[in-house]
Amino acid sequence: MKFAIAVVLAVAVCHVSAAPSTVSSSLLQKLRTEGVSDAIIVLKDEVSSVVERVNSRRFTNSAEKTTVLVNALRERTRVSQKAILSTLSTRKAAVTAFWITNRIFVPQLTLQELEVLSAEHGSEIAEIREQIIATIDYESEGIDANPQVLEWGVDNINAPEVWTEGAEGEGIVVSHIDTGVRATHEALAGALRETHNWLDPYSNAQTPDDDNGHGTHTMGTIVGRDGTGVAPKATYISCRGCESAGCTEAALLSCGQWTTCPTNSDGSDEDCSKKPVLSSNSWGGGNENTWYNDVIAAWQAASIVPVFAIGNSGPGCRSANSPGDQRNVISVGATNAQNAVASFSSHGPTLLTARIKPEVSAPGNQVRSAWNTGDAVYNTISGTSMATPHVAGTVALLLSKNSALTFAQIETLLEENALRPRIENIICTGGGVNITNPWPNNSFGHGKIDAKASFDAAPSA
Ligand SMILES: *[C@@H]1O[C@H](CO)[C@@H](O)[C@H](O)[C@H]1NC(C)=O
Ligand SMILES: *[C@@H]1O[C@H](CO)[C@@H](O)[C@H](O)[C@H]1NC(C)=O
Repeated sequence: MKFAIAVVLAVAVCHVSAAPSTVSSSLLQKLRTEGVSDAIIVLKDEVSSVVERVNSRRFTNSAEKTTVLVNALRERTRVSQKAILSTLSTRKAAVTAFWITNRIFVPQLTLQELEVLSAEHGSEIAEIREQIIATIDYESEGIDANPQVLEWGVDNINAPEVWTEGAEGEGIVVSHIDTGVRATHEALAGALRETHNWLDPYSNAQTPDDDNGHGTHTMGTIVGRDGTGVAPKATYISCRGCESAGCTEAALLSCGQWTTCPTNSDGSDEDCSKKPVLSSNSWGGGNENTWYNDVIAAWQAASIVPVFAIGNSGPGCRSANSPGDQRNVISVGATNAQNAVASFSSHGPTLLTARIKPEVSAPGNQVRSAWNTGDAVYNTISGTSMATPHVAGTVALLLSKNSALTFAQIETLLEENALRPRIENIICTGGGVNITNPWPNNSFGHGKIDAKASFDAAPSA
């Protein structure tokens, strides 16, 4: 009886052809004017309890835990998405069903399909909306082909002093979600891991490439050899979450899954033991948007350190961008060669929740690194995108000293050993006391990272 009533109500909603409250008004608008739109179905059933349950169990190692986590997420989303996927099974363009978060990407959704979904599955759906498009954002200062040198940012955070202690990132696998990588670049030669090293959700390219340059640049700063990068003996894998125009939600979720449990570039041989120790993310947009938090929670459970740019929306307060403005990530602001915060760097506090952001800062103004147009070509570019890989490289160095360091330990090591400009820190003097700017603050976070000081403070394995 209850069921019959529900059907009648759903049909009524469908007939008035108004927007059920679960359909975003911008999607409805687009469907009415253009007839079709890419869309994301967000299911009501959330996966956070699956992650919590796995987190509460004991495992012999992190690869085993991650395998259990991925299987549990797959099973939960398979059951809850089954009916909707069955409704969508006859359409031409294939949908993408995610397991890291309970969402389905529907390319070229029609108004008619929307009405069927609302009528038949309204009770299972939290929201149907357009997909989010994040951006990569940087200012280019100039291409050059001068020989490789020790780059100022790598030097500025004292990475070479860590190398002289014998730690250059050996045995560490890092990853990034970016525009791709020119793997043949001289600064990256030999740095790509041999298998499970690349995924391209856009064009399914089977080997790494980069049409933009941004991804080659950021990876160059993490693992570039001979002075280009912070951890020059680490190896990398990469997922193309961004094209030049932007980074789609569907691609970024695919990359979030692949990072957690990598496959070969054709999707074969999934193996969670091949996961990287960190994911460096120089993309974002908007404020206080929680849309990537399920991925961040899965990475945390899998012991993958999430590093995110805080954004280039500064210098105004409350300009921190998402996902960098979320909890459980290390977000990064940009400094210049004078150790001052770059004018473009986004500032905290977060828009609504008033969290201090970023966590730390690193060199991001006029940073030179590898470029995509030739194997010996470099470009000098600016953005918090460039600061983020300095932190990622430093995390790799810390983990090469002690692979058992937790996210909380790594965050604390970076923060407590950061450089805090001391003189500017006094905001007024009088009556025999100096009133100082409280740290952390909303432009530097806890200060500019110091790889050497963090490394020395890290407990040995
Ligand atoms: C953070 O501290 C630095 C150094 O004292 C100062 O220049 C900057 O204005 C402070 N930022 C904020 C938002 O308080
Ligand atoms: C205040 O700061 C100045 C400059 O660093 C220093 O010389 C002075 O001793 C400080 N005064 C106190 C009371 O800490």
